[in-house]
Formats: sequence, C-alpha cells, structure tokens
Amino acid sequence: MARTEPRTAANSSQCPVTIEDVDLFSPGAQEHWYDAYPILHAKAPVRRLPGEGALPGTDGFILTKYEDILRVVRDPERFPPGLTTPPRRNADGSLPPMNAMMVSIQSLRPTEELWRAHKSELTDPWVGTGATRHHDMIRAAAAGLIDSWIDRGNVDFVGEFARVLPQIVMANVLGFPHEDIPRMEMWGGAQVMAFVYGKGHRNLLTAEQTSEQMRLLAGFGEYVAGWVEEKRRKPADDMISWLTQVTYPALDRKLTDIEINGIVYAMMIGGLETTQYALAEQAQLFCEDPELYRTVRNDRSKLRGFIEEALRLRSPTQGLSTRTTTRDEVFQGVSVPAGSLLHLRWAAGNRDPEEWECPNDLKLDRKGVTRHLTFSQGSRSCPGSGISRQEQLIAWTLLMDRIETLEYGEGNTFEHQPGIMLGLFRLNLNFTRA
Ligand code: HEM
Repeated sequence: MARTEPRTAANSSQCPVTIEDVDLFSPGAQEHWYDAYPILHAKAPVRRLPGEGALPGTDGFILTKYEDILRVVRDPERFPPGLTTPPRRNADGSLPPMNAMMVSIQSLRPTEELWRAHKSELTDPWVGTGATRHHDMIRAAAAGLIDSWIDRGNVDFVGEFARVLPQIVMANVLGFPHEDIPRMEMWGGAQVMAFVYGKGHRNLLTAEQTSEQMRLLAGFGEYVAGWVEEKRRKPADDMISWLTQVTYPALDRKLTDIEINGIVYAMMIGGLETTQYALAEQAQLFCEDPELYRTVRNDRSKLRGFIEEALRLRSPTQGLSTRTTTRDEVFQGVSVPAGSLLHLRWAAGNRDPEEWECPNDLKLDRKGVTRHLTFSQGSRSCPGSGISRQEQLIAWTLLMDRIETLEYGEGNTFEHQPGIMLGLFRLNLNFTRA
C-alpha cells in the first residue's frame, strides 16, 4: 500500500512529535497536518485555544473526532454557525460584495427549515442533485483543456487543468462570458484571502489585508449586479437567469437583486478552488501508486470509490471554525463552555481510527465511504458537492481515456499554500498517451 499522506516541501518546519509540538496554524504547519492528526487523536482530541473564541473572553476548541464533528453538524439549533454579526455597509449605505452574501443568508434562510429549502429549491437544481444536467458541458470543457497539452507528454496539472476546469464550469453555470474568467480568478482569490492568509483558526486578516481584499473585490458586486439586470431583461439558460425568474416556493416570492448577488458570491467562493485542490490531490495519489492508476483505469466502476476515498484522505477544506456552542457541552471528557467557537477539523475526522478501519489506507471498496466529512454532513453540508463530484468523475474518465501512465515531472517542490485548504501551488506531471 503506497503512502496516502501528502508529500511535503523540503524546507518545511519541524514535523511534530509530541503534543506540545502541534500547532495546526503556525507558519509552515500545513506541511505536517497529517503528522499532527494522530497525535491530536491520541493526546488532545478536543484542543482548547485559549482566548480564541468569537467574542472577547471566550475560547476556541479544535474538534478532531469524527463522532464529535458529526454531532455538531447534525444539530444546527444547538451548534449554530457563527454568522450572527450584522452585515457591514459602506459609507454610502451600499454593501461590500461579501456582505451581500450575509444579507442573502439572513433574508433567505434565517431558520433551519429555510436553510433546507434554500438548498433543495435554489441551489440543488444547478450545483447539487441536479448537477448531472451539466454533464456534456463539463465534458467539453475538460476535453478542450486536455487537447491543449496532450501532445506534450507533460503538464502543469494545477495551472493547465485543475484550476481552470472549475473556473470554466462555474462561468458556464452562472452565465458569465469566458473572457471574464481572469477577473473571476482574481475575485475568487480575494474572496478566499482570509482562508489562505488569515491568522489562526479564525482566519484573521490584518487591517491592511482587509483593505487589499476590499480593493480587489471592488467591482465584483457591480459586475454581478450588471448581469442580474441584464438577465432579468433577457434570460438565458444559466443559473443567474433562472434566479431572476424563479418564484422561491419556500417564501412564495421572487428574489431581490441583492439576494441573487449573495447567492452568486457563495457559488464563487465555494465553487472554484476547492475542486481544484481535490483534482490535484487525486493526481498525486495516482503518482504515488501507479498500480492504483492501472487498476482504476482498467475498471472504471472503481472510479467513484477512488474519488470518495481521495476526498476522505486528502480533504481540500481541512477545517473551518464555523460553529458555536449555545450551552455548556462535554466532548471526549473535555468541558466546552457555552459561547465557545468550534473549529471542525474535517480532515482529522476523516482519519479517525475509531471511525475508519485502517484509516490511512485507500480502499477502493470501503463500505459507506460517502459518510466522510469533506463536504460536512447534514442539512448545512456543501450545496456544491454534486457538481464537484461530477467534475472529478468526468475529469478522471477523460484523463484515463487519454493517459496510459502518469508520474511526477521535474521541478515539484510540493509546497502547500498556508491557511486551511490543502492546496499545492504547482504540480508538474509527465505522462504517456493512451
Ligand atoms: C471538493 C470540493 C468542495 C469541498 C471540499 C467543499 C467543502 C465544503 C464544506 C466542508 C462546507 C461546509 C462548511 C460549514 O459547514 O461550515 C461547504 C459549504 C459550502 N460550499 Fe462547498 N465544497 C466544495 C465544492 C463546492 C462547490 C463546487 C460549490 C459551488 C458550486 C460549493 C459551495 C458551497 C457553499 C455556498 C457553502 C456554504 C453553505 C451554504 O451556504 O449553504 N462548494 N463546502
């Protein structure tokens, strides 16, 4: 069985050996997250972060056990997301783009029932259960990208495939022209800035970084507003057009422009980089184990199992501090007071030895593998899991049709970006054509 832990950058900081060495958020820690998880499971499955709660005087807690994370996400009344701060307005009363999302969350889904309805009625038809409608579009996009480098025998897999495919797919789903993809990439990067460069588990940006983020995002809200207006007048076959026309059954009314703007913001922040990371991690798992690539390539019925195991073993979103406690709780014997902020470490739960047999092995026939936490679970789980899975399935189907063998190319540093996502900056691959 080949290794399933990510390769790490040669110049990375010291690998943790004892619990005192573990800090998931220190500079360079991303190179050793998978060394830290077994230590946390054994020594501190619930780890207190003093003074790092959402409010002054409160603490943060990292949860790494599968059962604890599941308990939290399955009970949103008891463990609500920390989305309670009112949206900040600009001096002229208008809303920065990010806060359009907060406005739309508060007006469209203030309750658990409406949260479910939002998913089933507004996003599922496009990026969730209904994502199969995009099959031909995704196939064409992936095939076009592969055509552009297949004759070379090598590829910058991140820059020439994994990053670009979700960008094209989301541009098509939302109804943005392809020439705007560079701007989408810039805005997408600004949206996730806190998750990459933010400090600690709360992803805190400095005042300078926040103003840089605002500068980069300036114009995004206007850009989307322009399209909403255009598509209200002249609807096409895309998600924004549909959102301008639909009567939202749960509220029995049409959506406002700002609500649509907020939904689009959420689709962009969730839909671009996450799938990029998933594809890049899958390529590495294949490079680590050429026999695995041969096996899946020769029997495509194993591809879905591979994708789910890869998502479990190499979660693109490693953890998020998105839930709070409304009353005093006890997890694994550790007291967690009301008002604490919980960092849910999906990637650690996905390798919890009490939940998964041989947690570090990639088993193509693992039973119940989709219970992994990579997209979270329950009513607030990722609304874009359907389209992301479609992209991964179609991408690997086409890649396997056209590539017989795959290996690491020259010049890989295996350096990961900081933050809370498992993201390689670059991945050079060599391959032989089928
Ligand atoms: C491999 C790819 C992806 C991963 C690992 C991922 C992971 C997650 C996770 C763990 C959450 C739950 C966050 C929480 O409970 O705090 C989430 C939420 C979310 N995801 Fe994804 N995601 C992926 C792809 C996508 C895509 C393709 C989209 C959009 C098309 C998307 C849109 C969202 C949105 C909007 C939310 C917030 C929940 C909501 O507003 O209802 N994600 N995602």
